Amino acid sequence: MKICILPGDGIGPEIMAQALRLLDALRSDGLKIETESALIGGCAVDATGSPLPEATLQIAKAADAVLLAAVGGPQYDTLPREQRPERGLLGIRKALNTFANLRPALLYEELASASSLRPEIVAGLDILIVRELTGDIYFGEPRGIAMRHGERVGVNTMIYSESEIRRIAHVAFKAAMKRARKLCSVDKMNVLEATQLWRDVVIEVGKEYPDVELSHMLVDNAAMQLVRNPKQFDVMVTGNMFGDILSDEASMLTGSIGMLPSASLDENGKGLYEPIHGSAPDIAGKGLANPLAMILSVAMMLRYSLNSEATAQRIERAVKRVLAQGYRTGDIWTPGSQRVGTKEMGDAVLAAL
Ligand code: IPM
Ligand code: MG
Repeated sequence: MKICILPGDGIGPEIMAQALRLLDALRSDGLKIETESALIGGCAVDATGSPLPEATLQIAKAADAVLLAAVGGPQYDTLPREQRPERGLLGIRKALNTFANLRPALLYEELASASSLRPEIVAGLDILIVRELTGDIYFGEPRGIAMRHGERVGVNTMIYSESEIRRIAHVAFKAAMKRARKLCSVDKMNVLEATQLWRDVVIEVGKEYPDVELSHMLVDNAAMQLVRNPKQFDVMVTGNMFGDILSDEASMLTGSIGMLPSASLDENGKGLYEPIHGSAPDIAGKGLANPLAMILSVAMMLRYSLNSEATAQRIERAVKRVLAQGYRTGDIWTPGSQRVGTKEMGDAVLAAL
């Protein structure tokens, strides 16, 4: 198996270093993998002028799976839009056709006190957000800033085709079948036609999954329900922009965005695996970042692209163990636990493994 490694910017290289140590350990246990690193995001702009160089795309396309840390930084925010690091990320998602973004929000019981909600509201929380990743207002045309009637207007287009909705709905229903068989589809059909179609198509697809209890929720209500009573949800499915927002919200229920991995899959199970957090420029280079979302992304990669469920669970158990042992990076630290840095957290995971 070939894995393309994209450390990116900010804390990216630091957390990826811990993932690479983990892969080395698994390799010496017999996992047959080869890795090849490439540039994406701001570091790629600095080196080549493009946030997604052709060479990177070739390596990513030839690989069985892609592991990505994070991109972006304030020094790139004033570049022309096509050179911004985020364009590299959106570009690789689109080029690999990884339309199905799985974002689990799982509360480790040891972290219940790190959540901003009361422990009894979040204890046992286990939600899977299925976010459509290659359509919606993120990619819709027309887009841009233009002059109209003597003033500037900003335009983006929310658009979904039936086939795009159908394929993500199938992914969500199948995921629900493997879990508690409850699917909540999130839209804004009271205002937006694009999401009326979303709801109609999800209902149609639902007829093929009579065992899944399907419900619908408007996105504003869903945002409220996530902090009111998050345990009512099993699987949630939604479009690209709503999924971006709701998954950050859901991550906080679990204590820290630094804990949550994600998988972005194409139709054949090839995937791009990345933490849902960003490049955290404020703590970059200080050895403080939480590497667990990155490490858990490796577990998701083993599960979905490398067909190694047992090894995926082994990594997840190791993470559970280090939390139980009391190791905490700053983002999940609470009084009484042991504050560690990125590398020490990596050490602890390797020891637990
Ligand atoms: C995410 C991020 C990205 C997104 C940004 C960095 C382009 O917020 O993966 O959730 O909006 O998809
Ligand atoms: Mg986001």
